[in-house]
Amino acid sequence: MKDIVYLNGEFMPLEDARIPVLDRGFIFGDGVYEVVPVYSRHPFRLAEHLRRLQHSLDGIRLLNPLSDDEWTKLIHDIVARNSGDDQAVYWQVTRGAAKRAHEFPLSVKPTVFMMSNAMTTPPREQVENGVPCITMSDFRWLKCDIKSVSLLGNCLAKQLAVDADALEVVMFRDGYLTEASASNVFVVRDGVLLTPPKNHLVLPGITYDVVIELAEANGIPFEAREVHETELRAAQEVWVTSSTKEVLAVTSLDGRAVGDGKPGPVFRRMHALYQQFKQTVMRRAA
Ligand code: PDD
Repeated sequence: MKDIVYLNGEFMPLEDARIPVLDRGFIFGDGVYEVVPVYSRHPFRLAEHLRRLQHSLDGIRLLNPLSDDEWTKLIHDIVARNSGDDQAVYWQVTRGAAKRAHEFPLSVKPTVFMMSNAMTTPPREQVENGVPCITMSDFRWLKCDIKSVSLLGNCLAKQLAVDADALEVVMFRDGYLTEASASNVFVVRDGVLLTPPKNHLVLPGITYDVVIELAEANGIPFEAREVHETELRAAQEVWVTSSTKEVLAVTSLDGRAVGDGKPGPVFRRMHALYQQFKQTVMRRAA
């Protein structure tokens, strides 16, 4: 089965999708995106992803071209047109094509593109043994709450991880934890789950919210507050979270073991809670 994508009102095979070279997404990275995980053909936390999309569009002063109902229908359509029960739907809205000039063009139609890929959750081996990460200072811009397609900073960071045979780069700004190149970061210290608060320095992760809700509902002590680099380095557990990684334990940082070098008890509990929660939500949606 061919990959079917959506571009500006039409569904078509991926290889037929074309955009003008003057699209501001191509020229300036002037656009925003979302990724929603789909389990058993049901999008997970779609309302929250649509709310974050609106936040990102507001952040770049771009009108939302579709209503939430229209987005929802489109996402269900693309899922139905592609194979596999578990998918990751990616979509982006850019400011459209116009003569190259930095300022916003007047009355240009935004470009809407959507595709869906097979969803691959982390292999058992990563869940059971954890993953290696490295660290770096966060050199990205100061509007990281906008899910912008301008991901050069994140791509440069991710490549450093790949070069070091690590999964992710955990970043610090002025000595405090922000997030990783494509995930949020949690830390366990003396039984307390810590993560930086949502602000302009981090993407407000949908998985981040799920993890916090599960911690609160299950009596895991939790605090959203600034986490200093020294606290993270001395933590018993470090996790990364994202829609595609779900929750993964970081078992080494810059080549040094985190805790005893194995996924910790709080991680194992949260991972089980997350899987359970997913099943419950999906059963309810079915
Ligand atoms: N990225 N922080 C960054 C910088 C991210 O790119 C992501 C996710 C997250 C986690 O957000 P969520 O829990 O909503 O997936 C945090 C996606 C998956 C991507 O760009 O492919």
